[in-house]
Amino acid sequence: MPTSRRLIVGNWKMHGLQADLAGAKAVAEVADTVDLEVAICVPATLIERMRRTVDGSTVSVGGQDLHSGVSGPFTGDISAAMLVDAGAGMVIAGHSERRAAYGENDAQVAVKARAAVGGGLVPIICVGETAAERDADRTLAVIHRQVVDCVPSDLASAAIILAYEPVWAIGHGVTPSLDEIAAAHATLRGALNSIHGDLCRSVPLLFGGSVDAGNVSKVMALRDVNGVLVGGASLDASNFISLLHAADTRRIAHVDRE
Ligand code: 13P
Repeated sequence: MPTSRRLIVGNWKMHGLQADLAGAKAVAEVADTVDLEVAICVPATLIERMRRTVDGSTVSVGGQDLHSGVSGPFTGDISAAMLVDAGAGMVIAGHSERRAAYGENDAQVAVKARAAVGGGLVPIICVGETAAERDADRTLAVIHRQVVDCVPSDLASAAIILAYEPVWAIGHGVTPSLDEIAAAHATLRGALNSIHGDLCRSVPLLFGGSVDAGNVSKVMALRDVNGVLVGGASLDASNFISLLHAADTRRIAHVDRE
């Protein structure tokens, strides 16, 4: 990963105890039957057990944040090496909930992304506009700038993933229109290409924000959408399994929206 197959990433956020791993086993069985790459980003406490739970399947396991250093006096933080040691293959960097709650900025996200790659992880770098920025009609300018500031140029040839998550859509049961998502993803692709050249053409672009089994196929049919990042609908195994079936690439005709 990244891969040319479409990618579904579950983000459990601060949810999940050992008892929830039984559902993940069922998810892994379905993941092996659909034409998709599937990953689940879990709390750090579950990475190692989730890795063992899905062992033998194609499911990847990820973390949700990392420190940019390798080790040191940073109480409560986790390095890329630690995540890899626990069994993670990827990590979310710059999720809007961390930006909002801990004041993470684009420069810090870029440093984290570089640390993830240096440590052997695929970073899922998150960008997205706030409601105020959307209301001011600044969505495309904001996410273009975020890509420029969050994706270090030396990562142009590295395995990275970019996720567009409009902050106002996360966890609210609302999503942008399909035209808005298409325009945002075209902007992300354009930003990557203009700054980092053709090498970035292969970077998967995920959409996140209230994606569920009911809307995933329409979102996934958009040209510059290579997958989705799913919060709430990834928590319950049967919901996530329904989403995987609905997202199965073999069932989706692709739509170009200009
Ligand atoms: P929801 O799917 O719950 O809106 O969360 C999206 C998200 O933040 C995934 O990282």
